[in-house]
Amino acid sequence: MSSILPTILRGTGSYVPREVLDNAFFERYLDTSDEWILTRTGVRERRRIAPGESTSTMAARAAERALLDAGMQGSELDLIILCTATPDQPIPATACNVQAHLGLSGVPAFDLGAACSGFMYGTTVAANLVQAGLYRNILVIGAETLTQVTDYEDRTTCVLFGDAAGAAILARSEDPRQGLLYASLGADGTRIQDIWAPAGGSALPASANTVAERLHFLRMRGREVYKFAVVKMMDLIDGALKATGLSSEQLKMVIPHQSNLRIIESVREKLNLPVEKIAINIDRYGNTSAASIIVALDEARKQGQVRKGDLIMMLGLGAGLTWGVSIWRL
Ligand code: ACO
Repeated sequence: MSSILPTILRGTGSYVPREVLDNAFFERYLDTSDEWILTRTGVRERRRIAPGESTSTMAARAAERALLDAGMQGSELDLIILCTATPDQPIPATACNVQAHLGLSGVPAFDLGAACSGFMYGTTVAANLVQAGLYRNILVIGAETLTQVTDYEDRTTCVLFGDAAGAAILARSEDPRQGLLYASLGADGTRIQDIWAPAGGSALPASANTVAERLHFLRMRGREVYKFAVVKMMDLIDGALKATGLSSEQLKMVIPHQSNLRIIESVREKLNLPVEKIAINIDRYGNTSAASIIVALDEARKQGQVRKGDLIMMLGLGAGLTWGVSIWRL
């Protein structure tokens, strides 16, 4: 898909839980070090939800902030899409929990599962629904509680992940020069086991055995995913620039998914961008999956790093494997 879509980002908001887990937390009980984590991943600290918090409570907080930012009432929303790989419960969709928290009974709501590419998938679907004339204002949320599916005995994954939520309101634009200019999505289902939680679904339902074997936790073939991610990110960038005829100098900011600072650095080098033009929050939040891109965008907007009229690129890759890229004029 590549066409001019009159859909704008009308408002954004984000929320991170209060509790901070620094690298020293892991040094106290695991064979790891601050030095290893920092140099291999770029993570200094990550956030973890408190008792009583969940994916939906964080999502609702982020959504309230996005509504405030957009100067809108919840009653003006036509649809809620929650992008998450860590729902509150298996049934029903956690988007319904969010809808209830926001007091928006009647508004359609569904979950979208594309892991770390969730926000790329969610915004592309939402923009096309707006473009088709079905809805005027759509709330797209990326929210994750990865700390709840992380095996804290597995040093190869537990140091990476954190909890966060971000929300964006996509709205029909009156100005065709503004909004989504390009989007492209992809997936490779032959690589499901590269990043997955094996149990808890219909293929391997929860049992005492699956719990004993720690099969409900996230597993990742880190090295393989790393190699694939670097190559795929380059492809996505090439495709997006070629299709739009834009050069990297015209981009005010690039917002990549935050899975590893070294992957982000290779994206920056590929685009030959100065450090201030690439969004980074992995040092503060770790990998927050579907939340990372929208949280980074919200922070960049609130800090004035990007403004109305600026061109931005967002791109991500995650479990599935799934990936996506988009270019917007804010
Ligand atoms: N502390 C100390 N040593 C560690 C740790 C740790 N926390 N974790 C792994 N090691 C060790 C390994 O055991 C290995 O030791 P060995 O050589 O004796 O076997 C060594 O460090 C190197 O391990 P690698 O896996 O090769 O380390 P790598 O440099 O690849 O870093 C990482 C691992 C950070 C996971 C990296 O591969 C990565 O970022 N992969 C991509 C992740 C990604 O993009 N995911 C997509 C999104 S996630 C989602 O969708 C939910």
